[in-house]
Amino acid sequence: MVLTAYNHVPIPSFMYGTAWKKEATTQLVKLAVALGFRAIDTANQLIHYQEALVGEALQALEKEGIKRDTLFLQTKFTSVDGQDHRTPYDASADLTTQVRQSFDSSLSHLHTEYVDSYVLHGPHQRRGLAEADWEVWAAIEDLYQSGKTKMIGISNVTAGQLTELCEQANIKPMVVQNRCYATLGWDKEVREICQTHGIIYQGFSLLTANRKVLADPEIRTIAHRLGAGPAQIIFRFAMQIGMLPLTGTTSPQHMKEDLQAEQFALSTEEIQRIEKIAL
Ligand SMILES: NC(=O)c1ccc[n+]([C@@H]2O[C@H](COP(=O)([O-])OP(=O)(O)OC[C@H]3O[C@@H](n4cnc5c(N)ncnc54)[C@H](OP(=O)(O)O)[C@@H]3O)[C@@H](O)[C@H]2O)c1
Repeated sequence: MVLTAYNHVPIPSFMYGTAWKKEATTQLVKLAVALGFRAIDTANQLIHYQEALVGEALQALEKEGIKRDTLFLQTKFTSVDGQDHRTPYDASADLTTQVRQSFDSSLSHLHTEYVDSYVLHGPHQRRGLAEADWEVWAAIEDLYQSGKTKMIGISNVTAGQLTELCEQANIKPMVVQNRCYATLGWDKEVREICQTHGIIYQGFSLLTANRKVLADPEIRTIAHRLGAGPAQIIFRFAMQIGMLPLTGTTSPQHMKEDLQAEQFALSTEEIQRIEKIAL
């Protein structure tokens, strides 16, 4: 299955996330692609991601016949606040230069001439967008206009920040990536803005941020009916309410199970029951 943002660029409906995989990143990305994932998420941020090891996996996959254009690669620009001393850019340079240097370094890590999606890892402040965010966004818009990224997006945004960006940017984001809490109606407010603007909503930490939901008897009952596991129910639920889920699993068995969530369907009534669990 593929989803399409307002600029008509297709994106696979399930994404493999590479955060916190450390040295296992290469092996896990190879495995995820071998098992069927076609979209990979990373970031040029050494605290949490090994982007260069994603690139090593891509090189190995290419040798096995998996062509670059059959994969969807997403990476991020992370500002100095989200980095340690190993910034992939000159931290004393202006923000436009930082974005360009980080992006070029991502292309080099990933051994590619373009990425499919380039995401601002997060705004500088919790409320509203700062002048610095606008400068970074303009640099990201330039990358989009140059054709070196097919989509641009933003992560860790509030509904207010996303509205501001959609109203005032020259180019609206095509993707949003947020930690998705069931207690916030599965990020309902942000998802609704995305729907209005034709933006693809990517939900992360769907399992780790919602452990109570995962263990809820309601989920177990539905899982039992479908002969599935609770994680599969959550991923399927996410897809059916219009979300693109990320999985961060390190287990081949879980990778297979997660992908199987595309093979069954929840009823409308089951969707409504799941929506109510954490409210
Ligand atoms: N933009 C941002 O700021 C940001 C922040 C955080 C994450 N992300 C992205 O989102 C991705 C996913 O995040 P996450 O790791 O928190 O996601 P997650 O999929 O909610 O959590 C993964 C954890 O759940 C466990 N798990 C148990 N059963 C599972 C199953 N059937 N399928 C999948 N996982 C299962 C995994 O253990 P096993 O390994 O044993 O399966 C792992 O410990 C990250 O890798 C990253 O790409 C982005």
